[in-house]
Amino acid sequence: MKILSIETSCDETAIAILNINGPLEKPDIKILGNTLLSQVPLHEQYGGVFPMLAKREHIKNLPILLKQVLENTKSQAPNPKQIRNSKFEIPNIDFIAVTAGPGLEPALWAGITFAEELGKKWDKPVMPVNHMTGHIFSILYRTETNPKSKILNPKLELPAIALLVSGGHTELVLVRDFGDYEILGRTLDDAVGEAFDKVARMLGLHYPGGPKISLLAEKSRFRIKDLGFKFPRPMLHSGDLNFSYSGLKTAVLYKIKDLTQPSPSQGEGGALDSDLKEDLARAFEEAAIEVLIEKTRKALEDSQENIKTLIAGGGVAANKYLGQELKSLMTDFPDIKLRMPEKQLTTDNAVMIGIAAYVEAVKNPSVLAQEKKITAKGNLTISSR
Ligand code: KG4
Ligand code: ZN
Repeated sequence: MKILSIETSCDETAIAILNINGPLEKPDIKILGNTLLSQVPLHEQYGGVFPMLAKREHIKNLPILLKQVLENTKSQAPNPKQIRNSKFEIPNIDFIAVTAGPGLEPALWAGITFAEELGKKWDKPVMPVNHMTGHIFSILYRTETNPKSKILNPKLELPAIALLVSGGHTELVLVRDFGDYEILGRTLDDAVGEAFDKVARMLGLHYPGGPKISLLAEKSRFRIKDLGFKFPRPMLHSGDLNFSYSGLKTAVLYKIKDLTQPSPSQGEGGALDSDLKEDLARAFEEAAIEVLIEKTRKALEDSQENIKTLIAGGGVAANKYLGQELKSLMTDFPDIKLRMPEKQLTTDNAVMIGIAAYVEAVKNPSVLAQEKKITAKGNLTISSR
């Protein structure tokens, strides 16, 4: 199945062309073309993503990326005549897939409108894709060979629990089967990636803050063993699988205020020195991640299903410390396999949208026959029940 996929749910504009065949548990995925333009440098100056600005950039960048991806594909195709790059010639694809939600609605609309125009022009069906299914099934793509097992792409065994952690989401999802999803828990306020970004801003670091916090935290762990202070672990003992990150963010803010304000005992206040910034980043990271790990543990322990796989996806899954903690969690669940996406597929991209579209097309082929107008849904849920 040849799929042209489009992603514009947040601040990355991305288009890919994939050729996917074979069983869903272990599909053969060939990336024929893959382009991505990040708006990070633009949003950096505002400290976050502005939806209308993101939309304007998507509209500007989509035709450029399309041209690039078609040229890209042409140079890789075994028969160059198969896919042409002219605006007026139809590429050799079966359908177009586009993210319909969740995400920033103006940004989503940019992708949907573009996809529908292409669909009309090329007479190809257009399929709406849930962005979160993209983060889940991003793990199906593998380029690295595991030197131990020599298995290039292990079979995905279901049911699975997926920990989805990004700038917009923090969710634990039960993946009963392909196409059958249930949200077990989610954040009641900020997403974990959003908390990383906000704390980074408090420490004077640019958006997106996740990777920068992670680097600082690592330096602190390298420099000292015990921090001597801790931030609260919100909802750690709430008894459910929900999360909350806004209190943790506020706790960091108060700590920074405390440390920078003049006090009678400590004398003058002032700017944080670099060691202190590293320690604050670490204390925040360790609190944020301990909650993710413990809620994931609870989800695995409490599940009535015979869970075979733990999937971690979304931008925050690129966090090194989270990766280490998840691996160590898995030692308590020796029968469950941990699957994480390759680094380049952790943050938003169009490849994962194409893979999720393949899953949907195989499970629910009638979706391609429906000529329904696609609508952007900022709060689109992944739950299928
Ligand atoms: O999945 P993604 O690209 O976009 C959304 O769907 O939101 O995730 C972006 C988020 C940002 O909040 C960013 O700070 C965070 O992922 N992130 C990280 C790391 N890399 C990206 N957070 C912690 N550690 C990282 N290494
Ligand atoms: Zn995402």
